[in-house]
Amino acid sequence: MHRRPKRLERLPEQYFVALLGRVAAEAARGGEPLVNFGRGNPEVGPPPHVIEAAQRAAADERSHGYPEFRGLPELRDAVAQRYRDFYGVEVDAEREVAVVPGTKSALVELCLVTAERGDTVLLPDPGYPDYFSAVALAGATLATFPALEPELPPARVAYLNYPSNPCAIAAPHGVFAAAVEWAERHDAAVVHDFAYGDLVFDGRRPESFLATPGAKDVGVELFSMSKSYGMAGWRLGFVVGNAELVERINLLQDHTRAGVFRAVQVAGVAALVGPQESVEDRRARYEARRDRVLAAVPGAISEGTFYVWFELPAGLTCERLLTEQRLALAPGEGFGPRGEGWARISVAVADDVVDVGLERLAEALS
Ligand SMILES: Cc1ncc(COP(=O)(O)O)c(C=O)c1O
Repeated sequence: MHRRPKRLERLPEQYFVALLGRVAAEAARGGEPLVNFGRGNPEVGPPPHVIEAAQRAAADERSHGYPEFRGLPELRDAVAQRYRDFYGVEVDAEREVAVVPGTKSALVELCLVTAERGDTVLLPDPGYPDYFSAVALAGATLATFPALEPELPPARVAYLNYPSNPCAIAAPHGVFAAAVEWAERHDAAVVHDFAYGDLVFDGRRPESFLATPGAKDVGVELFSMSKSYGMAGWRLGFVVGNAELVERINLLQDHTRAGVFRAVQVAGVAALVGPQESVEDRRARYEARRDRVLAAVPGAISEGTFYVWFELPAGLTCERLLTEQRLALAPGEGFGPRGEGWARISVAVADDVVDVGLERLAEALS
């Protein structure tokens, strides 16, 4: 085969593919069952009414042909209703909501539709690894800001993520207003990744970027069904906010996709407008597990998400935890250079797995 296009060569190693491979190789060596705190994959699926809605819709004749490219109107309405009821934000379901097959693809595409080759894209470091892939595919210039002390230098677009993966911090007071002011000053765009938006702790209220005055003039928010409803495998999410950016994502999708399976969209409506107890149950479960990790790991941070972020004591590495304790964590450096020496714990695992993992971690820390 002739040589690969440069855009593929520019891609960094896919962090989670590499991590899963490393953990699987260690598991295959035999010994005590490995405990995997490395993966952020919800351990509990959606509530029964969502699954039943999908089952009924899968048997519906209307689900077999190509779906509407830009999503079911009732699904976009359900997103608008959620933004109004939960986050105090008015959005136009027609012009300000794009339906996407999970927010992972949308966050990559948002870089393609906001940054020209050579434009600067600002990312949080440490930050979600696929943001870095997005910049590489767009041929844009990467710049970063410290995720734990956000200060934005000039750029074409900035990605924000609260509650954040991997740092597990909720939006610091004033950070969204500062981002809107920054975008206005530099004629720039803001992409806020709200994938963990509903998973906040210690009495915090979910805080949408779009609730900030002026936010819709400069940016969009990514809302995912994966974490709030345990629907990561279903691949459904939304780009919400600035109508011009929503239109750009729709335009790109018109050329590259043919909508999202109708049964998944119908399930999305059931999740968004049906009983919401499962969202709070999930949030409370993660908070209780988070409490246990914070009690066991001095100096650890977690204000939301299902992660805990902590600095490894001198001499301890994720590789040693994996081989000596058979405990997999996500090594911090995979999220950017400022993550070096830190690690991410995921508590999206069953309680009995948390028990064993924390025992092993305590032994290594003592
Ligand atoms: C910060 C962040 N953003 C986006 C995503 C992608 O979510 P999805 O594509 O399932 O909507 C993830 C998934 O782990 C994430 O951690």
